[in-house]
Amino acid sequence: MKGTKLGRYVVDEFIGKGSMGAVYRAKDTSSGKDVALKVVESPGWKKNRRIEYFLRSAKLSLSISHPHLVKGLEVGRKWKTYYLAMELATQGSLHTYLMYRLKLSVEEVYSLVRQIVRALDFIHRKGVIHRDIKPSNILLFENDIAKLSDFDLFHPSGHKDFHKVLPKGTPHYMAPEQIKGEPLTPASDIYSLGVTIYQMLTGVTPYKGNSAEEILIKHLNFKPLPVHEATDNIPAELGKCIMKCLEKEPFRRYPDVWSFWEDFHESIPRERRALNVNKNESRA
Ligand SMILES: Nc1ncnc2c1ncn2[C@@H]1O[C@H](COP(=O)(O)OP(=O)(O)OP(=O)(O)O)[C@@H](O)[C@H]1O
Ligand SMILES: [Mg+2]
Repeated sequence: MKGTKLGRYVVDEFIGKGSMGAVYRAKDTSSGKDVALKVVESPGWKKNRRIEYFLRSAKLSLSISHPHLVKGLEVGRKWKTYYLAMELATQGSLHTYLMYRLKLSVEEVYSLVRQIVRALDFIHRKGVIHRDIKPSNILLFENDIAKLSDFDLFHPSGHKDFHKVLPKGTPHYMAPEQIKGEPLTPASDIYSLGVTIYQMLTGVTPYKGNSAEEILIKHLNFKPLPVHEATDNIPAELGKCIMKCLEKEPFRRYPDVWSFWEDFHESIPRERRALNVNKNESRA
């Protein structure tokens, strides 16, 4: 793929593969800037539903703009290859960052969550559920900026064919109602955000398993180990706040992002809300 020209973009190194296609670093030949290019191959000449969905969601990323949402730049097609150019996360994803750091300090988690909840609240107010909040969809930029990505699994609430058309999210982060194919609400994203924060604080996701099925069954039936038992130096109120996000029944969680944020913010002592971390120090 390296060196391939797609519209005005020349593909450079491979970044990673997802459920829709692959993401590459690429050069925009008109501006000279580096971008990220999500490339999806169609099996045939006719657009299938997967491609249609990709295009619909890619276009949505061009039209929605927020300081903490990854910006889509252009959607294009060359032969059977469809692509979305988007701003490049120069510092990679939270997923790769966690592979290196294993777990993060309360200060750093606070800084990341503060930014991501703004983006999540913004899309919820537009009637959109993200459906795939997880570390690989939280992208990192210079100056400790974090943005939420992946309009892939965005859907206008109420789209009837949704479950038939789409890949289903990621087992480690899926809310019980999502696993059961029930209607999703903002509380479903709050569940996945809770799993992501649990992982940031403890270094592990709440449920382990040898197969996707085993993990999904645990989301439905098992109680997670409380955050403060999985790691130390966590304020008790913060642990409670994360466990509330992980409640099986959506109505027992926070109903919206702001009520979560209020509790989360209050649960962290003032002096631990300032970001002052040594990122070169691995905690693994
Ligand atoms: N704009 C971007 N800048 C830098 N890296 C990106 C960008 N968009 C995606 N990535 C990275 O590229 C890889 C593939 O992303 P992709 O969104 O296709 O899959 P995913 O997020 O891992 O899974 P899913 O398909 O379930 O969303 C991931 O590691 C992701 O963090
Ligand atoms: Mg993604």
